Amino acid sequence: MNLNTKWLGLGLKNPFVPSASPLSRNLDACKKLEDAGAGAIVMYSLFEEMIRAEEEGMTRFLHHQDTGHAEADSFLPNHQDFPGELDRYLEQVAALKATVDIPIVASLNGITASGWMAHAKEIADAGADALELNAYYIAGDVWEEGHYVEQRYVTLLKELREQIEIPINMKLSPFFSSVGNMVKKLESAGVAGVCLFNRFYQPDIDIEGLRLHHALTPTKPSDALLAMRWMAMLHGRVECSLGATGGVYGAEEAIKLLLAGADVVHMCHALLQHGPRRLEQVIKDTTEWMERQGFEQIGDFRGQFSQASIVDPSEYERLNYIRVIETYRSSEGVWR
Ligand SMILES: Cc1cc2nc3c(=O)[nH]c(=O)nc-3n(C[C@H](O)[C@H](O)[C@H](O)COP(=O)(O)O)c2cc1C
Repeated sequence: MNLNTKWLGLGLKNPFVPSASPLSRNLDACKKLEDAGAGAIVMYSLFEEMIRAEEEGMTRFLHHQDTGHAEADSFLPNHQDFPGELDRYLEQVAALKATVDIPIVASLNGITASGWMAHAKEIADAGADALELNAYYIAGDVWEEGHYVEQRYVTLLKELREQIEIPINMKLSPFFSSVGNMVKKLESAGVAGVCLFNRFYQPDIDIEGLRLHHALTPTKPSDALLAMRWMAMLHGRVECSLGATGGVYGAEEAIKLLLAGADVVHMCHALLQHGPRRLEQVIKDTTEWMERQGFEQIGDFRGQFSQASIVDPSEYERLNYIRVIETYRSSEGVWR
């Protein structure tokens, strides 16, 4: 059985890729993911805010040394003695590359095209095989028009493209008026792949304590259907790689996403919750399913259920909606 796959121009032994998560902070966990069969690993994100805070702190520190304590310079600690988030991140990229043989995709998370992005070059120099850019942007200004929001993504990508030559993957939100057109625009600006979809954790209200609270609500397998639809709608219509994230807990979700047209299937929460054996199981179950179906390689079935391949393309559009609503029946006896 051949599970080889291409993603972002990289050759992977299979399409199962742990997505950005704290697991990549731990070298031992990453080795275990590789041993369990991971095709590549996406690292946790380095945030724009952290880089900025560090740069501002450093500027203050150096300024203070220069102006306030010139005579005491030799007593002051050297700023290089305090490695910050960025240095730790670069060290982790290099350490991961030395620990595993599979591709390592670093991740930047930010929303403004400015100085902090220059550090992408250091990440590439540290050995990252590709870079994921997660622009977790909430368009909260009621006067900001949709096309400015879209342009923000394109500008970010172009800025990053100027800094590095390794492939760039963009993790996108599902909240665009036209997801497909957004992907096309990014493709024209040089994106190598898109990861669909970024999960926007929602703030919640504690109605007894009367305050906002923030908690991570885990995904569930049915969440994979959102990415599945868009894998299906985009497969064969865009040139860039398609990665699906959200709700993959077992082989069933993974197979559906591949059938829809995904190049890679990401897993995060399932691995955090169940460990590397879950990944092993998903690969084993997918392989057995392929055997049962008579498929020898991923290419034999990838995109078989894409919108372009099925008889009635409207199944992915309004027809699905109308069918679902028309066939719904409420539970027996509830309204008697
Ligand atoms: C604890 C935790 C940390 C995460 N950290 C990041 C991150 O640093 N950058 C990022 O782009 N996504 C991050 N994610 C999002 C995941 O990569 C993934 O896209 C999301 O959890 C949906 O996939 P899942 O259903 O497989 O969990 C994180 C998710 C979790 C649960």
